[in-house]
Amino acid sequence: MPTKYPFPVRPAIADVASSQIREVATLGMEMGGIIPLWFGEPNVPTPAFINQAATQALNDGKTFYTLNRGIPELRQALADYMTGLHERPIDFERVTVTASAMNAIMIVAQSLIDVGDNAVLTAPLWPNIASCVQVMGGEPRQVALDEHEGRWSLDLDRLFAAVDHRTRFLFVNSPNNPTGWMMSTDDQRAVLDFARRRGIWIVADEVYDRIVYSRRCAPSFLDIAERDDLVLRLNSFSKSWCMTGWRLGWIAAPPAFGPILEKMSEFNIANAASMAQYAGIVALRDGEPFISETVARYEQARDLVFQRLAAMPRVTIARPDAAFYVFFGVEGMNNSLEFAKNLLGKSRVGLAPGSAFGPRGEGHLRLCFAATLETLSEAMERLAPALS
Ligand SMILES: Cc1ncc(COP(=O)(O)O)c(C=O)c1O
Repeated sequence: MPTKYPFPVRPAIADVASSQIREVATLGMEMGGIIPLWFGEPNVPTPAFINQAATQALNDGKTFYTLNRGIPELRQALADYMTGLHERPIDFERVTVTASAMNAIMIVAQSLIDVGDNAVLTAPLWPNIASCVQVMGGEPRQVALDEHEGRWSLDLDRLFAAVDHRTRFLFVNSPNNPTGWMMSTDDQRAVLDFARRRGIWIVADEVYDRIVYSRRCAPSFLDIAERDDLVLRLNSFSKSWCMTGWRLGWIAAPPAFGPILEKMSEFNIANAASMAQYAGIVALRDGEPFISETVARYEQARDLVFQRLAAMPRVTIARPDAAFYVFFGVEGMNNSLEFAKNLLGKSRVGLAPGSAFGPRGEGHLRLCFAATLETLSEAMERLAPALS
């Protein structure tokens, strides 16, 4: 198949679209003077107690390859952390450390998707997930969430109807980027029952599980799944502990899947960075006050942004219960990419276009409110003329 590149390359990779969020951000960075709310990233650096643990590990000579699935101390710390948070105990054998949730998603796609297979995903959705399925020659089948006055919900019948004999997994990202939608425990039960009957995997991306405003942790498939259920639960240190640059995450899987993850880790990364793994142990051990403070800060930010945007006549928005995004509709906007680019010049605020999250996202813009109240206030002032 001809590609747009002047050299041979797998068409599945050549055809994967580049990021529309990056497109807006690159333009905005060239312009300068923009308030950047386009990426999904905490606005504060990693707390000092975590940095010190990494420095200590370096000074102690922890600079060698580790076991593929991670150092045993971190795997045990993760098992204990999850056991403390969820309804069921999670043991060491279920835990594999990865170099981020992104790495975990790619490893899962490599392990489960063959050419011609498909994965059923809810949409709008962070685009990299569908791209991993495409890279493997699979079809990402998007099932749209329903929206009612800015609030999002999932019709399970439509989700299940999208599954066929080539479906290898159902991908559920809850709490969801970009909408903030959270799947209820009842719906998780229904999805698990369905997946059991059909013998397919559930891949649960729960990287925002601790960024919730009404409870300690979002409902998780780990609350309901048995040890051997075909559930791969992905998580990350990026969001909860402000460690996006460290590239550290983990997968909770049935024990029998461990050897697959071990192999795939070897061929992708060998292991997550050793000093990051040691820092991860300390993040889990001492990080709870930091998470609570950070979430309290985000909650104030969310309320400010929600109140101000809700008062703008062209905007349709509901207050999200989780994650650090508002994903709002703009009346009369039918090309969110062009709109987001124009906003850079007009309002000097950088937002992510809804179309970056799949066709269901068109008509919307995503704003990341992990920023100071001053920055967000200024952004709202700047946005008001364009959205009123
Ligand atoms: C839904 C979702 N999954 C996974 C990731 C990736 O996280 P990590 O930094 O661990 O790769 C992100 C990052 O924005 C995300 O929004």
